[in-house]
Amino acid sequence: MSWFEPTFILQTRYITGARKIITSGYEKLEQYRDSPFVVRRYDVDISVLPNKYLNELRLYPNTKLSGVKAQVKNLVDKWTYTTLMIESNLHIRVLQNKLTAELAKYLDIAKTELNHGWPLDIPQPDDWIEVDMQQMMRMLVGRMSAKIFLGHPACRNMEWLKLSIDFSIDMFTAAFMLRMFPPWLHPIVAWLVPARYRVRRNLKTAERIIGPLMDKHRDALKRKAAGESIEEDDTLLNWMMDNGNEKENRLFEMATRQSILTLASIHTTSMGVANMLFDLCAHPEWFPVLREEIQQVEKELGKLGEREGAGAKQWLPKLEKMDSFFVESQRFNPPILLAPQRLAVVPITLKDGTHIPAGTRIACANWNILNDPSTTPSPDTFDPMRSYRKRHESGEFNKHLAGQTDKDNLSFGHGKQACPGRYFAVGEIKMILARLLVEFEFKYPKGKGRPSNFYADENVFPDPWARLLMRKRREACQACGRS
Ligand code: HEM
Repeated sequence: MSWFEPTFILQTRYITGARKIITSGYEKLEQYRDSPFVVRRYDVDISVLPNKYLNELRLYPNTKLSGVKAQVKNLVDKWTYTTLMIESNLHIRVLQNKLTAELAKYLDIAKTELNHGWPLDIPQPDDWIEVDMQQMMRMLVGRMSAKIFLGHPACRNMEWLKLSIDFSIDMFTAAFMLRMFPPWLHPIVAWLVPARYRVRRNLKTAERIIGPLMDKHRDALKRKAAGESIEEDDTLLNWMMDNGNEKENRLFEMATRQSILTLASIHTTSMGVANMLFDLCAHPEWFPVLREEIQQVEKELGKLGEREGAGAKQWLPKLEKMDSFFVESQRFNPPILLAPQRLAVVPITLKDGTHIPAGTRIACANWNILNDPSTTPSPDTFDPMRSYRKRHESGEFNKHLAGQTDKDNLSFGHGKQACPGRYFAVGEIKMILARLLVEFEFKYPKGKGRPSNFYADENVFPDPWARLLMRKRREACQACGRS
């Protein structure tokens, strides 16, 4: 960065060069004794604060320091139908008060849909074939998510599954395009962005799919009140209807909120599994270690979900090495370089006198913190048992687990406003990976290695063209008794 570099060039460089720009600020931060620095995105300047402030910042309520207000600004809400995210928070309440409160039950429900989708989405090749692992994972995660949110048979509706994958891409593209223009041009530019029309179309489709489900639940409630006994799936949509206010129960609101939940959950989770597979193929010595752990659990409890006492609650915590592998994989491939992101709703003065004016966007340099030698010794080494060792050496068995946030690991955000779906995501990732590893072998096509990550502003995603080779495991049947 140079004083002479025009702002728009700096902002343009940020689009694909965010990691370099943030890193150069982070390195200077040490030089200037942990002071904040600013990165310039097309639409906004973001003040990047040292994570030493997080213990203080995490206590601020979202009325003063808001994560969701930063998110809707990232989505250019006025033009992408997402303002309702700041008007009320039913989509967060359902995750905190229902999904996480009954996590094991919902993971078991999601597992049934994983079983259904498996033969449909996962090929069964006897010999090596090239596959798009990322798309396969998106389908499986989409199915599992749809099962808990909408229930059966909507979770098998191909139109909904397509929407759950496409909505994020269209929304991301629309917001990205709009952010390149100043707000005063949005009323014109918005009409010229094709992705915005696709978002609109997706929302219309969502209304068409969600509407009859809402009618059915209303009807069931009426009949139950009249004394009839009615069987219903305990879906998150039903909970949202029962606990939402009149406005939240309007069809457009509910359909939009369900779509926003796909935006938060599908690509993030499926990238988690895909990244682990890419890392395993780059470090194949870990395949047998993770397989042995799975086999141990199968020996002790039987196969996941096959009998009482072998559900997600008992099974998944035993996959400690896989858990640790995920944390390391996420360290190398966090979904976002700047997290958590917040908007100061009111002026804030921190204990050391640092002043954050109202309207300021703040964030922490998640990737750099994860890769700082003071936090992670030898950060360039892929060492997937780091968390496992920390847990066993310290005897703190409930710590250093995937999904737990910490001022040094911000991949799921931090504090009261951290990702409310993270424990479900980790459970899904483990269930999918465990089955993949037992049934298949994976490797890179000849001449290929670990795909690079791509950057779009501070967002990180694996090379969409990356492919793996897979085939059915030959010793799978002997090792675990699967046919
Ligand atoms: C590996 C998968 C996932 C990753 C890496 C991830 C990451 C994140 C991050 C970094 C945030 C911002 C947190 C903050 O600002 O402190 C977030 C927010 C959020 N996540 Fe996740 N997430 C994942 C999966 C999920 C799933 C499965 C769901 C839903 C079931 C979900 C729902 C949400 C929601 C609704 C928010 C917004 C919270 C708010 O506005 O307060 N996420 N996530």
